[in-house]
Amino acid sequence: METPFTSQQTYIDEFSPLDYLQTYYVSKDGSTLDEWTEFVVRNLHETFAAGGVRGDTVIDFGAGPTIYHLLSACEVFDKIITSDFLAQNRAELEKWLKKDPKAFDWTPVIKYVCELEGNRENYQQKAEKLRSKVKEVLKCDALKRNPYHPVVLQPADCLLTCLCLEAPCEDVKSFCNVLKNFKDLIKPGGHLLILSVLKSSFYYVGDKYFTTMCATREEIEEAFKEAGYEIAKAVYGPRNDKSRPDITDYDGHYYIHARKPK
Ligand SMILES: C[S@@+](CC[C@H](N)C(=O)[O-])C[C@H]1O[C@@H](n2cnc3c(N)ncnc32)[C@H](O)[C@@H]1O
Repeated sequence: METPFTSQQTYIDEFSPLDYLQTYYVSKDGSTLDEWTEFVVRNLHETFAAGGVRGDTVIDFGAGPTIYHLLSACEVFDKIITSDFLAQNRAELEKWLKKDPKAFDWTPVIKYVCELEGNRENYQQKAEKLRSKVKEVLKCDALKRNPYHPVVLQPADCLLTCLCLEAPCEDVKSFCNVLKNFKDLIKPGGHLLILSVLKSSFYYVGDKYFTTMCATREEIEEAFKEAGYEIAKAVYGPRNDKSRPDITDYDGHYYIHARKPK
């Protein structure tokens, strides 16, 4: 029998931010980053350092309980609006923003990004800079026509989303619809940065099983084109670390930098 696609209610009832962070973001030796985190922070560092993507506001869509992907963005945007579907993830984000002693410790990733940026000494200042740039933590729902309903956001210079759309989108058609809806959130000529995984069908958070949209690189690129974006850059990387096939089955990472036409 086919496994039903994970419902929104299952996310609400069963997604534990602490189990998620523990499973996917705890550095094994306190300094090395896992393959996924390294792929994201390196690619975003390169994009933002190159200077073509910057501006007043970046919308971060579906952050979960995480901030790693915002560490370079905070250098080139004045204002970050972050968001997630789940109240428990937004609460975890607030803990980090408010320096709650029980917040997740992102120090190894922050130090790594400081090194990439040639600023090894100042990792605490980097954390403070990011905290100061995050102006809002909103609820979002990818499956709504306006994902921030009832809030209406001004179109931003950039929309960034990591490892999110495979969760709510059951198939590539639904993914393409979300990309179309995102166009109202981005200024003409603005940027859409998506980093995620290929050919994934599930992931575990603790002992809870979540399904994901399974797509190839060709299907992902076609969805961007069908939704009316221009692809400025596409980067693919294999999953080399196969040490935990039991927790998720993706076979590679992708990063697509697309632009909404002017
Ligand atoms: C695999 S987690 C990724 C979290 C984080 N972005 C990261 O990079 O680790 C999937 C995320 O999708 C979010 N999600 C689930 N349903 C959603 C929906 N309908 N709209 C937007 N996000 C949703 C979950 O709350 C969760 O944070």
